[in-house]
Amino acid sequence: MTEAPFLRMEEIHKEFPGVVANDRVDFSVRRGEIHGLLGENGAGKSTLMKILYGLYSPDGGDIWLDGTRLDLESPQDAIDAGIGMVHQHFMLIPRLSVTENVVLGEREPAGRFRTSMGSLLDGLVSRFSLGLEEPADRIRDLAGQYGFDVDPTAKIWQLDVGQQQRVEILKALYRDVDLLILDEPTAVLTPNEAERLFESLERLAEEGIAIIFITHKLKEIDAITDRVTVLREGAKVGTVDTADVTREDLAEMMVGREVLFDLEKDPVEIGDPVLQARGLRARDQRDIEVLAGVDLTVRAGEVVGIAGVSGNGQKQLAELVAGLGDPTDGTIELMGTDLTGASPREFVDHDVSFVPEDRLRYGCAADLSVMHNATMKDFRQARFGANRPFLDYGELREYAETLVEEFDVRGVQDVRAVTAGDLSGGNLQKLILAREIYRDPDLLVANQPTRGVDVGAIEFIRESILEQRERGTGVVLISEDLDEIVDLSDRILVIYEGEFVHETTPEEADRERVGLAMTGGEAAATDGGRDPIDAGRAATDGGGAADRGADGR
Ligand SMILES: Nc1ncnc2c1ncn2[C@@H]1O[C@H](COP(=O)(O)OP(=O)(O)OP(=O)(O)O)[C@@H](O)[C@H]1O
Ligand SMILES: [Mg+2]
Repeated sequence: MTEAPFLRMEEIHKEFPGVVANDRVDFSVRRGEIHGLLGENGAGKSTLMKILYGLYSPDGGDIWLDGTRLDLESPQDAIDAGIGMVHQHFMLIPRLSVTENVVLGEREPAGRFRTSMGSLLDGLVSRFSLGLEEPADRIRDLAGQYGFDVDPTAKIWQLDVGQQQRVEILKALYRDVDLLILDEPTAVLTPNEAERLFESLERLAEEGIAIIFITHKLKEIDAITDRVTVLREGAKVGTVDTADVTREDLAEMMVGREVLFDLEKDPVEIGDPVLQARGLRARDQRDIEVLAGVDLTVRAGEVVGIAGVSGNGQKQLAELVAGLGDPTDGTIELMGTDLTGASPREFVDHDVSFVPEDRLRYGCAADLSVMHNATMKDFRQARFGANRPFLDYGELREYAETLVEEFDVRGVQDVRAVTAGDLSGGNLQKLILAREIYRDPDLLVANQPTRGVDVGAIEFIRESILEQRERGTGVVLISEDLDEIVDLSDRILVIYEGEFVHETTPEEADRERVGLAMTGGEAAATDGGRDPIDAGRAATDGGGAADRGADGR
């Protein structure tokens, strides 16, 4: 690592209507350095990086790379200058293959033009049938080198979010870059995959590549960054050497107050079953069985935590019990009523709430206003005018404003003007959670509710889930974060290849054993024979049936 800055961003300023997203930010990165970028949801991290990648033009400020001033009009200019970016939200074209996406990635289609660009590229690919074998081989090599389990010929829609994220990373690595920006790359990776990504990043840094790494996980900042820059409300708080600060220091720099890392969980009396699912089976589009006969009972006031590595059927389980899609076999009862085969609307009417894993695609309508998004499940209520000829927009607006205020969704000046897609990742998550929780459901199904959310908001979301539990909601909590499962659950189930393979309680949970069960290493654990880490790897590398057949809905 050299001391002189390789990248220098000076006085970068960017405003959106009513928000200063970047407030005269100075930011510099050295060659061979892994530089963490930290800040609350909406602090301006992605905006600063999108400016550096030519996606947004700043209102003021200069960018210098290796002593040359850059004038970036588009991502193509950034790419030509040797800058690569892995986006927080995927920029992949679902109906093209991994290889096609990687190769065509050089013409980065931006934002909302993605779909029309997609069909255009689709046409080009089929018409000229690009020679894709050589790139496919290179991608296979790269994937192997970085330990990513990705099939170059698979279509993007067939992959789960974790696999799609790996494709994004391969897309950046495929081109030679001097500066690599990763915007929350680990939000959707398993701990094992994250570990391997870190090894690759360290290798890239040793080769002299400058890396900017955005994450909300302070543990990761600790593990791999050399320096950290913290942003708060668009402005820079400071840049520090990672070795000189603690996790608590960083959290305080980010939110401007002390953050509680420990939750208070009071005992709650557990009531009658709200959900009883029996013998659930499901297949995905490729006709691979992803749920192999699952029984799940959740009682009022109980949080049932489902731990597992993503791609083991939890996404399908969450969708089924939330009423999206039908099982190929088995039954679902809610509060004693059989709802097997009922429509999603009937589940909503039976007070089931759902926080999906992919919040941008399935959790909201990105182009609609915050008001529409906040009320889309409840607009049929009488007080919104459901029985009258016209909806009462005043009521809808007031309701949306209440949600935004109570759940501290930032970046919303006017609930009718700001769209869900304009919100920063974590703020969008808070909005969806607000919509789902504020209606006081009987059953709350939450899939990865704190993924990509800042430490302050994580604290808030976890407290909200516990409050729901206290008021008697049954909660299905799906998370890859074992700490989160242990902190919030009353009962813990481990899912692997579409089946529950281990059950325990937070008091009795043996982390090593749970971690092992998550990777299919339960048998090895009871044998006491193999090294647990190797057993885990072998199981992950082999890929479960559910892993290969992720649902692309
Ligand atoms: N295209 C846009 N239009 C309007 N406002 C925007 C747009 N993009 C970002 N903003 C606003 O700018 C601010 C900074 O957003 P940004 O996405 O940079 O935050 P972030 O630090 O990346 O947050 P997160 O951790 O949640 O991803 C937010 O208030 C956001 O709502
Ligand atoms: Mg962001």
